[in-house]
Amino acid sequence: MQFLINGKSIEADFDVRTSLLDLLRDHLGLPGSKKGCNQGACGACTVLVDGERILSCLALAVQYQGRSITTIEGLADSGLHPLQQSFIEHDGFQCGYCTPGQICSAVAMIEEIKRGLPSHVTADLSADAIALSHDELRERMSGNLCRCGAYNGIVDAITEVYAETTE
Ligand code: FES
Ligand code: FES
Repeated sequence: MQFLINGKSIEADFDVRTSLLDLLRDHLGLPGSKKGCNQGACGACTVLVDGERILSCLALAVQYQGRSITTIEGLADSGLHPLQQSFIEHDGFQCGYCTPGQICSAVAMIEEIKRGLPSHVTADLSADAIALSHDELRERMSGNLCRCGAYNGIVDAITEVYAETTE
């Protein structure tokens, strides 16, 4: 089967019951995406498919042939991604286990809010633009858990990069 992962075309042969997360980690040597709960509850396995965030532990790899998959390794292809740099500067990680998922999720979330996609806490659904308030950020990142409680640094890192990209 043929995949496009981090901009590279990759052939892989595996059991069709394999999750996308297991394909990345166990078959393709991309261990950046983490297996936290393996049941869709923690966000540690978040990757981007055509720029949208998905939980790779809940995805069957065969469904994603021909789609553009980006993992945390791909975000750092030509130097650190601004969010990776910002997580470092704001101490957005402690053990770092959740960090790849947090960063992939934040990359997609920033694009979602720029496209005007509302969240559960968006007050005005007809507004032309949505501000990334503290509540919006918390709601939109709520699928990514950090057991160390590095949330303050994570929020600061995302807030800073969002502000830079919308200047
Ligand atoms: S490992 Fe996928 S959501 Fe937890
Ligand atoms: S930094 Fe450890 S779980 Fe988030």
